[in-house]
Amino acid sequence: MTLAAGTDVRSSVDETSLVLTVAEVVPLTQGVRHVRCADAAGRTLPSFTPGSHLVLSCGTGVDGRPRRNAYSLTGPEFEPDHYSISVRLDEHGRGGSRWVHELGVGQVVRAGMPRSAFAPVLTARHHVLVAGGIGVTPILSHVRAARKWGRSFEVHYIFREGDGPYLEDLRELCRDRLHIYNTPESFWAHMEPALLDQPLGTHLYVCGPPGLIDALTGRARQDGWPDARVHYEHFGVGDLDPGNPFTAHLGRTGVDVTVDSGVSLLEALESEGLAVPSLCRQGVCGECRLPVRGGGVDHRDMYLSEAEKAVGDCMMPCVSRARGERLELDL
Ligand code: FES
Repeated sequence: MTLAAGTDVRSSVDETSLVLTVAEVVPLTQGVRHVRCADAAGRTLPSFTPGSHLVLSCGTGVDGRPRRNAYSLTGPEFEPDHYSISVRLDEHGRGGSRWVHELGVGQVVRAGMPRSAFAPVLTARHHVLVAGGIGVTPILSHVRAARKWGRSFEVHYIFREGDGPYLEDLRELCRDRLHIYNTPESFWAHMEPALLDQPLGTHLYVCGPPGLIDALTGRARQDGWPDARVHYEHFGVGDLDPGNPFTAHLGRTGVDVTVDSGVSLLEALESEGLAVPSLCRQGVCGECRLPVRGGGVDHRDMYLSEAEKAVGDCMMPCVSRARGERLELDL
């Protein structure tokens, strides 16, 4: 969900609507845990589009605020009797992966409805699916659907040797359509010609670390792939510089909100009691999108397209800031 211009952020609803029970916790590789959840009342769960994610309420963060994180769904998508996610423990993260790793069987968790942000294009003639490490989770969901519906696809999976979650599942699902790599050299030696040798109407999908996504999408552009046929899912932005302080003027109420260096606009608005919807807080999910009335925006997110950023009438306040000293929001 994103906020359209004119949406009242104060009226946003709590989307925690599913009550699930942890049915199974299995270590997949060192540092990666697979968690299977079922409806607490035993009902069939809502279907979802391949590449969708589940938003879990993960306790509270260090700032005391409720924390919600999104995890790609890896299991069957049509009227499933369970939802499966797999999460790599990030010792330096914000605590969401630690929370998942501490879940035990029988524990009750709350989740929103599955959301689609990385869906397959059904008119594609062929699907080239690229996964880096734990970025395999949405790709696995694409593969299951491609197999089920008889779509043409191939998978390229790069991971550190001995640390490839779902490798056996992919081998079984893909057979000779799976290409695996343990070094960047072997990956590029195969991918460079593969990008040049695809039938017209092929779509490329990539999920993995930012370096892999940037390099692959950049290469595809160089090779003439139109943006509309290149799809990617990021995990999050890297460390951002704290930025300069600025004032956010709320155009509808006339309130000025001071945003200090090192504090995000989202945090500053929340401190003023504004309930801005947010999820990843890393400029990836699009959840916190806000309408902008005036002032230059220093766009730091990975959600808006270059064209949307150029128009400048919206922004992601979890990471983006004012370019100057003042910004006017349509709030
Ligand atoms: S909360 Fe996800 S882009 Fe801001």
